[in-house]
Amino acid sequence: MSTTIGSFIAGGIAACGAVTVTHSFETVKIRLQLQGELQAKKDAPKMYRGVLHGVNVIYKNEGMKGLLRGLSCAYIYQMTLNGCRLGFYDPIRRSLNSLLLEHDISHMSSDRIKTYQSLPINIASGASSGILGAAAGSPFFLVKTRLQSYSPFLPVGTQHQYRNAWDGLGQIYKSEGVKGLYRGIWPAMIRTGFGSSVQLPTYFLAKRRLQSWFGLEDGAPLHLMSSTASGFVVCVVMHPPDTVMSRMYNQTGNLYSSAFDCLYRTVKTEGVLAVYKGFFAHLARILPHTILTLSLAEQTNKLMRRFEENALGIPDKLKGA
Ligand SMILES: *[C@@H]1O[C@H](CO)[C@@H](O)[C@H](O)[C@H]1NC(C)=O
Repeated sequence: MSTTIGSFIAGGIAACGAVTVTHSFETVKIRLQLQGELQAKKDAPKMYRGVLHGVNVIYKNEGMKGLLRGLSCAYIYQMTLNGCRLGFYDPIRRSLNSLLLEHDISHMSSDRIKTYQSLPINIASGASSGILGAAAGSPFFLVKTRLQSYSPFLPVGTQHQYRNAWDGLGQIYKSEGVKGLYRGIWPAMIRTGFGSSVQLPTYFLAKRRLQSWFGLEDGAPLHLMSSTASGFVVCVVMHPPDTVMSRMYNQTGNLYSSAFDCLYRTVKTEGVLAVYKGFFAHLARILPHTILTLSLAEQTNKLMRRFEENALGIPDKLKGA
């Protein structure tokens, strides 16, 4: 139990640290995604012209405060997401193990089935627990999006005057009810589901390819390159539902009837590439995050292996793949 709390706190602190560093890009991303919504390209005003221009303009007009709008919401969201990942991952993994592996490994004891590691099942469990976390944290992401789009200088999107996370939740509940709090929950779940299910497979694939094609050795440079490739792919698949999500969060139920309606009308009026508005700002947020998480995971895995081999005397080949 204490190790679970320990990893919740450690993971939470790491995630909040990463979020703090990259939050400015997230603010720019949201404004880029909302800019010119449902307007033909030639009629749309371009107040924010890209990642660097966006960061610059917001910093000049609104200061650090402008770039860091909604940061406390981002923390609460991260803690919710992390909590759900930690809390649901193992129960889901064990149930899937005993559900799907029963025939393959019926000679194993039930304890062994619980500890058995299957990569596809681990990935599915990671994605499912992430999706649950995204659903639970959606109201915070909603308030965060509205706080970040608020600007006294160059506003994009509906301007809501929320003082902080709790004030935002309270105001939404009062004016739009529970339905208002869970607006945009579907694209939020899809977005996180996409991201969590491609992250590890692309990482392992990139690692194998770099090793076999370019003969790279296992080590920090290989981890850096593979995690960069993985972060890029994660951003490519996550960004379209992310754009839909930002737009569903901006509206108050009067613009789109569903996430599909939003996607359809966005593409119809602004062109297919509109779903990639704010992509580079998103990439600037996701890349460092993915590189850090995956490289750190490699280091902790290495430590764990060494610990098991030296301290517990379990040779590698006895532990199964
Ligand atoms: C945000 O939502 C409102 C409706 O709540 C809508 O009128 C507006 O066009 C949306 N987008 C932007 C960029 O303001």
